[in-house]
Amino acid sequence: MGKYIDKEAFKVKVSSWVRIADNMLPPRTKATAGYLNSALASFEATKNGYDEAVLLNRNGFVCEGPGENIFLYKKGKLMTPPASDDILEGITRDLVMKLAEEELGIQCVEKSIARTELYNADEVFFSGTAMEVAPVVEVDDIKVADGKPGKVCLELKKLFADLTHGRNPKYMDALRPVYEK
Ligand SMILES: Cc1ncc(COP(=O)(O)O)c(C=O)c1O
Repeated sequence: MGKYIDKEAFKVKVSSWVRIADNMLPPRTKATAGYLNSALASFEATKNGYDEAVLLNRNGFVCEGPGENIFLYKKGKLMTPPASDDILEGITRDLVMKLAEEELGIQCVEKSIARTELYNADEVFFSGTAMEVAPVVEVDDIKVADGKPGKVCLELKKLFADLTHGRNPKYMDALRPVYEK
């Protein structure tokens, strides 16, 4: 597929729509009905001039994008919301955590993230099959660090691209050929 959203760096807005909770309609499933919640958030963000939304969960913690997981990097620590914060446990999220640990020596902590942690992060980025690994450079009109894509994000973006294009023999198991070998 082509680019999911044709941007190199993303300016996002925390949505006024709240992410569906696990005891309403399990967000961990890619159920068509759940995407109405995502669509409302995306529509609100793009209509207001942002590239994408970030949804909080019902407890006010950072959850994810409408179709992508979210990571923060702060003072040498990588973090992402846990499954119990009503996220979809994306396969790209898993790979990003694995690549960070194995290739960059950075262990990712799964922890609840408050909204204002987004404003203070050194880096924020999305992960997802469609989005791949994509830097977030502004949240609610506030620049993330210097407002440029972060180093860790760009390293992970390259590692992920090499992996998905079969350029890294170490991770061939992560690929499923859809053509005859
Ligand atoms: C709500 C939501 N979160 C996260 C993701 C990322 O998941 P994956 O990495 O499996 O594509 C998706 C992908 O469709 C999604 O819809």
